[in-house]
Amino acid sequence: MPTLGRFRFLEAQPPASVRPRGALLLLHAFPVNARMWQPQLSLADRGWRVIAPHFRGFDGETPDPPAISIDDLAGDVIDLIDALHIDDAIVAGLSMGGYVAFAMLRHAPRYIRGLVLADTRPQADTPEGVEGRRRMIQLASEKGVEAIADEMLPKLLGETTRRTRPDIVETARALVLSNPVAAITGALRAMMARPDSTPLLSSVHVPTLIVVGEEDSVTPRAVAEEMHTQIPGSALVVVGGAGHLSNLENPVVFNDALAHFLDHRV
Ligand code: MLT
Repeated sequence: MPTLGRFRFLEAQPPASVRPRGALLLLHAFPVNARMWQPQLSLADRGWRVIAPHFRGFDGETPDPPAISIDDLAGDVIDLIDALHIDDAIVAGLSMGGYVAFAMLRHAPRYIRGLVLADTRPQADTPEGVEGRRRMIQLASEKGVEAIADEMLPKLLGETTRRTRPDIVETARALVLSNPVAAITGALRAMMARPDSTPLLSSVHVPTLIVVGEEDSVTPRAVAEEMHTQIPGSALVVVGGAGHLSNLENPVVFNDALAHFLDHRV
């Protein structure tokens, strides 16, 4: 896995025979890590330099301090793309990755050439949501990351995947278990303090694709449809047979949607 200073990320380079098209930055969900994007690394074959950073502390034994805010995570991503000498990128965020993409839009829009918002929401946490985060922080601190996997997997994966794809359930579980508790609790604290990004939506003027798993119960289809009406000129794709981790549950449809967007809208 490439590292650059304090950054750790997955990277796939386009083959020399293909015209380079720019950078595609993939921002991961909670409580998994950048390895969730493994099925999307093949988009490099279409000319994209694909980069998927682990957010602070995720994946492994890293002693990094937990994140303080979603803005810190966005700052890390910007520092990484600066360090890689990338001027701008297509920024694709799934769920928590979408919250980070919104923070980039707020603070550093010039880095964003196109936007993919997958299984995410612009709203801040509700008071009940904040309570839920506090319970999760307590659960993680007392019972460890296995308890977080037990709690989250039924929410992250759609009914179809849970019923018919034990391999994907195992992959998702392994992704959760590879993260230290400090990364999990840090991200929960960051998410519960994030601002409302709804006012940003009408000012998004880059090509935008919104993707949602048909069976997503965490950030349901209605939320995606609402974002679609608010972001001028955006496209919306519903991924059949998938829940919240739509890229992992139905990579064929997810990748087709992304490839079509990259070929025709960007
Ligand atoms: C995620 O998938 O990143 C989380 O479900 C987001 C959240 O808990 O708000």
